[in-house]
Amino acid sequence: MALLRVHVSIFVAACAFLVCPASCTTTRRHAEPLHQDLVTQLPGQPSVGFRHYASYTTVDEKNGRALFYWFFEATSGSDEKPLVLWLNGGPGCSSVGYGATQEIGPFLVDGEGYALKFNPYSWNKEANLLFLESPVGVGFSYSNTSSDYDILGDSFAANDAYSFLHEWYKKFPSYRNRSFYIAGESYAGKYVPELAELIYDKNNDSSLFIDLKGFLLGNPETSDAEDWQGFVDYAWSHAIISDSTYKIIKDNCDFYSNDTWSNEKCKDAVDELLRQYKFIDMYSLYTPVCTQNSTSSDNGVMQNMMLRHSSNMMPRIMGNGYNP
Ligand SMILES: *[C@@H]1O[C@H](CO)[C@@H](O)[C@H](O)[C@H]1NC(C)=O
Ligand SMILES: *[C@@H]1O[C@H](CO)[C@@H](O)[C@H](O)[C@H]1NC(C)=O
Ligand SMILES: *[C@@H]1O[C@H](CO)[C@@H](O)[C@H](O)[C@H]1NC(C)=O
Ligand SMILES: *[C@@H]1O[C@H](CO)[C@@H](O)[C@H](O)[C@H]1NC(C)=O
Ligand SMILES: *[C@@H]1O[C@H](CO)[C@@H](O)[C@H](O)[C@H]1NC(C)=O
Repeated sequence: MALLRVHVSIFVAACAFLVCPASCTTTRRHAEPLHQDLVTQLPGQPSVGFRHYASYTTVDEKNGRALFYWFFEATSGSDEKPLVLWLNGGPGCSSVGYGATQEIGPFLVDGEGYALKFNPYSWNKEANLLFLESPVGVGFSYSNTSSDYDILGDSFAANDAYSFLHEWYKKFPSYRNRSFYIAGESYAGKYVPELAELIYDKNNDSSLFIDLKGFLLGNPETSDAEDWQGFVDYAWSHAIISDSTYKIIKDNCDFYSNDTWSNEKCKDAVDELLRQYKFIDMYSLYTPVCTQNSTSSDNGVMQNMMLRHSSNMMPRIMGNGYNP
């Protein structure tokens, strides 16, 4: 639940510093009319030579669903550079709260969250970078129809993201035929290929064509069975577990089975692995981590917590670490 708490506080921080783009058009100074979504004043923003835009885009008029985006032009040569859509995972993680302001965007939240600093590694050095909060309920994105929140799912998310793209192109027609990539991390391991497939399928209609060139995934969720296998291989190959623990897991764990944990040898060996991640950040093995003194026994704590939910669920939000 630590992740949820972080998510909420980031959301509040994001609310505080993103000014409403509509109100900014009153400060126009140039002869050329300003784009309605241009962000002209962002408190604490470092001075930069590229423009950025933020707003809602309606994806379903009947139900009143709108997705929030934040778009950064490339730092230079934006006319020539591709368009990259970024999606955080979760499901439920904000692309503004994580991707844009803590990971790959040009303005990172600095220190205690009261200021912004320029990110010299921002991906908008290489591409025009579009952050989307998806699906509704995530970050600033919303639906005016409460029952929409009961039917959220992967295909719902893909369909709304697809509608978003076409609406967004209407606001930014010069990107309509631009080379397009989709990137994301974690649960976006599902969102990204599913959106890519939808684009590919709809591309048979030339009026809807999107020039999708490829997609990129970081630390992606794929299938639980393969993720468990990778989780174990990674731990062994980084000396988190011994050769003998690894062999016990190899010999006894069937991650494709529906009752993986009924094998006690498997369960105990995986528990041994998970115990190591009480003291090591599983997403950043070589950096220090703040460990809290625990009063409860560490015997199988994490795995028991996990088993309560689903026998095969990955420990995505368990232990120390960060994986939005
Ligand atoms: C949702 O409802 C509010 C309040 O009526 C309205 O201002 C807003 O435009 C609606 N959103 C959409 C996407 O229709
Ligand atoms: C995009 O390409 C299509 C097909 O080649 C063309 O009809 C359309 O005018 C182009 N749109 C823009 C904005 O360049
Ligand atoms: C494109 O493919 C979809 C799904 O197979 C189909 O429903 C649709 O009619 C096709 N559109 C065109 C223009 O061929
Ligand atoms: C596992 O459970 C799923 C969903 O209940 C079912 O479709 C599948 O056949 C089961 N697989 C095995 C190997 O029992
Ligand atoms: C944790 O326990 C250690 C050893 O008992 C103690 O020195 C330390 O102050 C404790 N830290 C916290 C945050 O309670």
